Amino acid sequence: MPSSLGLAVALLVSFVSAVSSCTQQEKGYLLQFHAAMASPRLAELVSSRSIAVLDVSFNRLTGALRELPPSPAPGRPLQVLDISSNLFAGDFPSWKAMENMIALNASNNSFAGPIPTHFCDSSPSLAVLDLSRNKFSGGIPQALGDCSMLRVLNAGYNNLRGTLPDELFNATSLEHLSFRDNELHGVLDEAHVINLRNLVTLNLGRNNFSGRIPDSIGELKRMEAAYFDQNIMSGELPAALSNCTYLVTVDLKINVFSGELSKFNFSNLPNLKTFDLMDNNFTGTIPESIYSCSNLTALRLSANNLHGQLLPRISDLKHLTFLSLSVNSFKNITNALHILKNCRQLTILLIGKNFRGELMPEYERFDGFENLQVLDIGACQLLGKIPLWISKLAKLEMSRLSNNQLSGSIPDWIKALKYLFYLDISNNSLTGEIPTALMDMPMLKSEKTEAHLDPRVFKLPVYIGISRQYCKPIALPKVLDLGNNKFTGEIPVEIGRLKSLLSLNLSSNDLTGQIPQSICNLTRLLVLDLSNNNLTGAIPSALNSLHSLSAFNVSSNDLEGPIPSGG
Ligand SMILES: *[C@@H]1O[C@H](CO)[C@@H](O)[C@H](O)[C@H]1NC(C)=O
Ligand SMILES: *[C@@H]1O[C@H](CO)[C@@H](O)[C@H](O)[C@H]1NC(C)=O
Ligand SMILES: *[C@@H]1O[C@H](CO)[C@@H](O)[C@H](O)[C@H]1NC(C)=O
Ligand SMILES: *[C@@H]1O[C@H](CO)[C@@H](O)[C@H](O)[C@H]1NC(C)=O
Ligand SMILES: *[C@@H]1O[C@H](CO)[C@@H](O)[C@H](O)[C@H]1NC(C)=O
Ligand SMILES: *[C@@H]1O[C@H](CO)[C@@H](O)[C@H](O)[C@H]1NC(C)=O
Ligand SMILES: *[C@@H]1O[C@H](CO)[C@@H](O)[C@H](O)[C@H]1NC(C)=O
Ligand SMILES: *[C@@H]1O[C@H](CO)[C@@H](O)[C@H](O)[C@H]1NC(C)=O
Ligand SMILES: *[C@@H]1O[C@H](CO)[C@@H](O)[C@H](O)[C@H]1NC(C)=O
Ligand SMILES: *[C@@H]1O[C@H](CO)[C@@H](O)[C@H](O)[C@H]1NC(C)=O
Ligand SMILES: *[C@@H]1O[C@H](CO)[C@@H](O)[C@H](O)[C@H]1NC(C)=O
Ligand SMILES: *[C@@H]1O[C@H](CO)[C@@H](O)[C@H](O)[C@H]1NC(C)=O
Repeated sequence: MPSSLGLAVALLVSFVSAVSSCTQQEKGYLLQFHAAMASPRLAELVSSRSIAVLDVSFNRLTGALRELPPSPAPGRPLQVLDISSNLFAGDFPSWKAMENMIALNASNNSFAGPIPTHFCDSSPSLAVLDLSRNKFSGGIPQALGDCSMLRVLNAGYNNLRGTLPDELFNATSLEHLSFRDNELHGVLDEAHVINLRNLVTLNLGRNNFSGRIPDSIGELKRMEAAYFDQNIMSGELPAALSNCTYLVTVDLKINVFSGELSKFNFSNLPNLKTFDLMDNNFTGTIPESIYSCSNLTALRLSANNLHGQLLPRISDLKHLTFLSLSVNSFKNITNALHILKNCRQLTILLIGKNFRGELMPEYERFDGFENLQVLDIGACQLLGKIPLWISKLAKLEMSRLSNNQLSGSIPDWIKALKYLFYLDISNNSLTGEIPTALMDMPMLKSEKTEAHLDPRVFKLPVYIGISRQYCKPIALPKVLDLGNNKFTGEIPVEIGRLKSLLSLNLSSNDLTGQIPQSICNLTRLLVLDLSNNNLTGAIPSALNSLHSLSAFNVSSNDLEGPIPSGG
């Protein structure tokens, strides 16, 4: 929530004066709150006759908050209370006498039990209420609907159950509303949604909401961000959504929305930057009108039932950095790459599981893709060779060409890709020896552990593999996966150079000879799979020194001798 505590920020100016009215000693105390003393002391501060703004966020304050005695005559002056990011627990007290409270941030503690119902009876001016990241349970209190001044309500990341109460939609001043990541269910009511005309962000992601997006959403003309992701919502994308012309972010991923996507008219959404429909049941082609959203930076249509070919107009999307079309039925990869290489800002391109059985394109001349860092063309059953144009992708860091039917050998130019740290060419029909060129790949040789990839390139969290796990870019490991091919010959001794490798898979090939001792130099390895080859000799005992190894497989070979223990 960008401007959420905007008001509070303004009030923080008065924080300075409020604090300076404390004694010097008290000021110091504010900064070094002693955990054990916290709760009683906090109650005193909250009840103080002079403090208007109290910010004790990001401390290690523990315990439960105490109830307060009745308010003194002119009322308590406290307007802004930020107790967020501490270790408070227990029920939230029913502080009945907080008549001047404007902003309360209790987020990121361990408060449990129901959300108190009193908030706006006792604090009629409450504008900002952040209860997110606690353990609140039970239903959403109807009384929140009485909060006529409430602009920000964030109760995300709790254990709330039940439906959105009808009364909630009486809080018509709401601009930012989030119940993300709870256990809420129910259908969004056409007639109620319309009341929240001031909404700028609506975040209902990661719950159990069902039913359609109501047409009345088109009346929420100020809406900039809508998150309905990870629910069980269905129906078409309502045409009315195109009336929300300020939309910047739309996230509908992981639902069961359906219908002909090309029926939706994107022409009225010039501000759209992020549009995520991953894992739904949309059909048809990519609507041409989407190419008019010239601000679009991240577009994900993966895991739907879309088909057709890309149109050249996609290169009108000058700011597009993230494009995922994976797991659909798109055709003509030659055409797709030819067009996409003109999206000059593109850094992440995920188009795997399409183009079934086509030929891996080669180009006479190839330019474009200047900024491409991640390329996934896995699971397309593509025929052909590892194409030369990949050598022109000077910024390439991760490449997945696995689960195709590529043949031929690994080209020597691979070592020219100086930023490549993740190469998965497993499950193809590649032949020849494992080239020593691979052992000269700069990123895999480098002693530096951290991957080079700038996390900011992931405009959207990337799901790698079928396990649908969130893959934090920062955690992307250095990987070399050549498994399930037809490689022959010995494992090169030079393998010992790939010091920063975390995962090495050479399984299911026709490799012969001994496991080279130098493999023991790969001290960072977490995964080593040499299974299903024709390797002979002993397992190097020095493998004991690979302390990080968590998966080790040398089965189905002709190895002999003792199995290394310890390590
Ligand atoms: C509440 O505080 C947390 C930090 O503890 C901050 O991230 C969040 O934005 C604040 N909430 C509002 C509404 O400003
Ligand atoms: C929550 O609080 C912890 C410290 O208690 C802090 O490290 C963390 O960044 C906070 N998280 C958020 C989202 O503010
Ligand atoms: C609040 O909402 C309820 C249910 O939607 C409605 O019956 C009631 O009239 C509303 N109250 C006010 C004061 O608007
Ligand atoms: C979500 O809904 C489904 C089916 O309606 C139900 O089986 C499931 O338990 C619900 N999950 C939660 C967390 O409420
Ligand atoms: C968009 O709003 C206009 C005017 O408010 C209305 O006439 C039109 O029907 C709306 N369009 C859709 C698709 O709801
Ligand atoms: C989409 O909307 C634009 C602007 O409102 C309009 O000019 C265009 O004709 C519409 N396209 C379709 C296919 O309805
Ligand atoms: C793109 O976004 C910027 C702000 O980020 C805005 O100023 C501009 O008008 C938008 N472009 C279009 C075509 O609307
Ligand atoms: C997706 O759509 C197809 C037809 O369009 C339908 O057969 C299928 O049941 C739908 N799947 C889900 C999960 O709704
Ligand atoms: C694929 O695209 C290329 C280049 O745009 C075009 O020449 C070719 O006809 C297309 N193939 C099919 C089968 O549509
Ligand atoms: C290997 O790739 C083929 C497609 O070329 C696919 O059908 C098969 O499931 C893949 N095998 C594994 C183990 O991923
Ligand atoms: C392991 O690395 C060290 C230093 O980097 C080198 O001297 C040694 O020869 C390597 N051992 C093998 C077996 O490659
Ligand atoms: C690998 O071993 C299998 C059976 O042990 C044998 O059939 C095959 O010819 C061997 N391959 C090579 C390349 O030695």
